Amino acid sequence: MNRANPQQMTLIKEIPVFPSTRYQGSKLKIVDWIWENIKDLKFHTALDAFGGTGCVAYLFKQKGKQVTYNDILKFNWFIALALIENDSVTLTSNDITFLVTNHKEIKYPSFVYDTFKDIYFTDEENQWIDVVITNIDQLDNLYKRALAYYALFQSCIIKRPFNLFHRKNLYLRFSDVERNFGNKTTWDTPFSTHFRKFIGEVNQAVFSNGLQNKAVNLDVFDVEGNFDLVYIDTPYISKKGVGVDYFSFYHFLEGLVRYSEWEKMINYRTKHKKLRSDKNPWIDKNQICSAFERLIKKFADSILVISYRSDGIPTISELVNLLKKYKSDVEELTRKNYKYVLSNNDSEEVLLIGK
Ligand SMILES: C[S@@+](CC[C@H](N)C(=O)[O-])C[C@H]1O[C@@H](n2cnc3c(N)ncnc32)[C@H](O)[C@@H]1O
Repeated sequence: MNRANPQQMTLIKEIPVFPSTRYQGSKLKIVDWIWENIKDLKFHTALDAFGGTGCVAYLFKQKGKQVTYNDILKFNWFIALALIENDSVTLTSNDITFLVTNHKEIKYPSFVYDTFKDIYFTDEENQWIDVVITNIDQLDNLYKRALAYYALFQSCIIKRPFNLFHRKNLYLRFSDVERNFGNKTTWDTPFSTHFRKFIGEVNQAVFSNGLQNKAVNLDVFDVEGNFDLVYIDTPYISKKGVGVDYFSFYHFLEGLVRYSEWEKMINYRTKHKKLRSDKNPWIDKNQICSAFERLIKKFADSILVISYRSDGIPTISELVNLLKKYKSDVEELTRKNYKYVLSNNDSEEVLLIGK
């Protein structure tokens, strides 16, 4: 019997797929539509300026572009280290066993167990998190740590009602009320089961496009460099003026990657032990228009591709007018939302392209 040699094995490796995600505002479901509309633009280097899950940066990477990913949240940066910057490192079965084992020789802190009692997870689950986060910190390869963090974040998100950390609502997982907003089986599945599954998903997604891609963790106005194309997917502010505050929704994950300093970063007056946060113009309806203008001006030499919703602040026509101040050719594309065609939902995905 002929066995495949390692080279052949690489050739028959399945095409990597971006892992599933429940992150708010992720464009994963519409990346094909985005690509259809930008594929004929002439560009080689691209910045995904508000990268989030990294699915758009990953699309660029798959299409052979040289990508820079940026997000202000450090936990997101780790996701991009694992999937965008990392070309080849994966977690082995020995690594996985190491990560989920309670090692006698390691003295585990109990910060999550002590601090977040009855808030997001059970006592036993909080202890599991303290162990795994400490084990992750022992891995000496940055990309291995990033892959393990990725699996830990996704496991935490999937076990949360609403997939968020915006409220102290662990009780929802155990109350008898009828639930139509969550999946009890998923919540009750042990952390280690989810964790192993997500490691499988992230491991298979690692690939090289032969170029040096990069992940950075900056406020968008601090990103340096020239890019042929800049993709801009800011937090969304509804027409009522309510912004998606990513820091507030995902502070627990941000705490995980700042484990040793977490204690000093919490606002202890909040019931759900949120991290203290800085002001961010992207979630303030009085500042977002001027922030857009500043950003468009900053990257005025690049092709600009902006994702926004049709019913937010600023309006699409305000954004078009801003773009026209700096770009001679502005195109507006709206994605028909077939799912909601019969409803009154007038929120549609819009793509603005400024050349
Ligand atoms: C709409 S989400 C991006 C979603 C992403 N395109 C995806 O498909 O997953 C907006 C992102 O902007 C990030 N963000 C918010 N303020 C920022 C800032 N000042 N600089 C850079 N990133 C910021 C948030 O952390 C969030 O991940």
